Amino acid sequence: MSRVLVVGGTGLAGRAVTAEAVERGHEVVVAARRAPDDDDDAYVAGAVYVVADLVTGNGLEEAVEGTDVLIDASNADGRRASHVFATGSLNLLHTAARFGVRRAVLLSVVGADGSGYSYYRAKAAQERIFLDSPLEARIVRATQFHDFVTAVFERGRPFGALIAPSRTRFQPIAVPDVARVLVDAAEGDGQPDSIRTIGGPRIESARALAERWKEASGARRPVVGVRLGGPLGSTWRAGRNVVPDAAIDGMDYDAWLSARG
Ligand SMILES: NC(=O)c1ccc[n+]([C@@H]2O[C@H](COP(=O)([O-])OP(=O)(O)OC[C@H]3O[C@@H](n4cnc5c(N)ncnc54)[C@H](OP(=O)(O)O)[C@@H]3O)[C@@H](O)[C@H]2O)c1
Repeated sequence: MSRVLVVGGTGLAGRAVTAEAVERGHEVVVAARRAPDDDDDAYVAGAVYVVADLVTGNGLEEAVEGTDVLIDASNADGRRASHVFATGSLNLLHTAARFGVRRAVLLSVVGADGSGYSYYRAKAAQERIFLDSPLEARIVRATQFHDFVTAVFERGRPFGALIAPSRTRFQPIAVPDVARVLVDAAEGDGQPDSIRTIGGPRIESARALAERWKEASGARRPVVGVRLGGPLGSTWRAGRNVVPDAAIDGMDYDAWLSARG
């Protein structure tokens, strides 16, 4: 058993990581700017919650004290991403190094390298900060979560539609499957200072997935193909968001839809 710090452990991915690490018997500390109440969806019984802010550094010493391994599953919104990821990672890793943390695992995104999309550039810079740190680092790049692709389709709601980015394929992955790989990495799986990519079990067109979401959710709105502008659209249309050789044997989109009930 190790003491594992999950930074951003109240978020979508972070909660699953926290639950997985608690389940495996680790002593788990979660750091975020807000600690959840015990009736909150973000609360995982057995974890300890510490209020800390990556950007200001407040609370980080308390969070990292006694930690063997940290997993960073935090996030930042698009406009602030570059600042939050850079400042936050430097603050986190310097503090962790001072307190003797051995290993750091970062959740990143497939396609982060070589994309002009500002959020992906910020993730790529964050990866470099982890790999250049004195800690033994492991990066796990995941494809889009099932929840995320569904949120893309639902961006059409104000227009009475479901949006399917045209000429785009997704390889959506279940967050608990990502969490398992992150905790494996925290336990030492894989090479130090390496990048592992993982994708969901199937690659499908955005339209096919959107049609299945439409059916499962009972939405009456039509699925409308939209050409996504900017560097994110071109990254996706170039297929740089899928990793056919790194598909994991996990929950596919249909199983995820069924599990939602
Ligand atoms: N969405 C996808 O499809 C996808 C795919 C692959 C990889 N990823 C990566 O997965 C990571 C997690 O994404 P997510 O959607 O799970 O994130 P999320 O739900 O937005 O959760 C973000 C977490 O970070 C914490 N946080 C934000 N700013 C913080 C700060 N300054 N200091 C401390 N904690 C802070 C939040 O808590 P507070 O707000 O309370 O601080 C929350 O716990 C991201 O780095 C993303 O690039 C996402």
